[in-house]
Amino acid sequence: MLNGKTAIVTGGSRGIGAAIVKKFASMGANVAVIYAGNKEAADAVCEACTHEYGVKAAAFQCNVASFDEVKATVAAIKAELGTAHILVNNAGITRDGLIPMMSEAAFDAVLDTNLKGSFNMIRHCTGLFLRAKEGCIINISSVSGLMGNAGQCNYSASKAGLIGLTKSVAKELAPKGIRCNAIAPGFIRTDMTGSQENNPLLTMIPLGRMGEAEEVAEAAAYLATANYVTGEVLRVDGGIAM
Ligand code: NAI
Repeated sequence: MLNGKTAIVTGGSRGIGAAIVKKFASMGANVAVIYAGNKEAADAVCEACTHEYGVKAAAFQCNVASFDEVKATVAAIKAELGTAHILVNNAGITRDGLIPMMSEAAFDAVLDTNLKGSFNMIRHCTGLFLRAKEGCIINISSVSGLMGNAGQCNYSASKAGLIGLTKSVAKELAPKGIRCNAIAPGFIRTDMTGSQENNPLLTMIPLGRMGEAEEVAEAAAYLATANYVTGEVLRVDGGIAM
């Protein structure tokens, strides 16, 4: 259980992030939901957590790609919720395109949000974790970062980068009682993937179906409580990347 803990989840207003927020709240954690623009959706997730599980929940607007905005937001979370023990770097975007057509802006936007955004969050939360003498960081990578994917060189690079980031952070902060792991989801049914019913890649999933956001949240709940696990990359992908 996560009673007495506070968890920060980026991109927590919908999809996989919202499922993780609700799962952690159901385990007794107070939650800070970081959202990019949709205040109504973020407030609705917070309300559901407070109403259903009686935990504290608050929403914070922040562009994770901005070092300074993240710094101010982590300070605001500390002021409102006291401290934080768990960070889930879930915010992510895609700007797919074949290499000859990919713009510099599309490459930079994906790296800035998915990889640098996670660094920004880790950078500014680490002070809280050091003071609390505990911390758990979970980075949401992707099977794209493990296998590569045509048309996603920017996204795959960002998600592979997250795995390197995860392992370095795990090694550096383990002596301080701070763990860092990654989850590599496969095809999960969310706004990001949309309707994939006719995608031929579905036939390559050994378990024969897309995953649900709640199934990724189960893995996050495991990593949040697995006190002897650090530097791991946990695939939640129906077997596609084995
Ligand atoms: P989604 O598009 O439904 O949610 C992403 C969230 O991140 C949104 O709430 C969005 O507002 C937020 N976000 C984007 N840029 C942001 C920024 N600069 N600052 C703050 N928040 C920002 O996507 P989904 O499917 O829930 O994905 C969540 C994570 O899981 C992403 O990192 C994605 O790459 C990863 N993932 C998803 C898979 C899938 O099949 N859905 C597969 C593998 C990984």
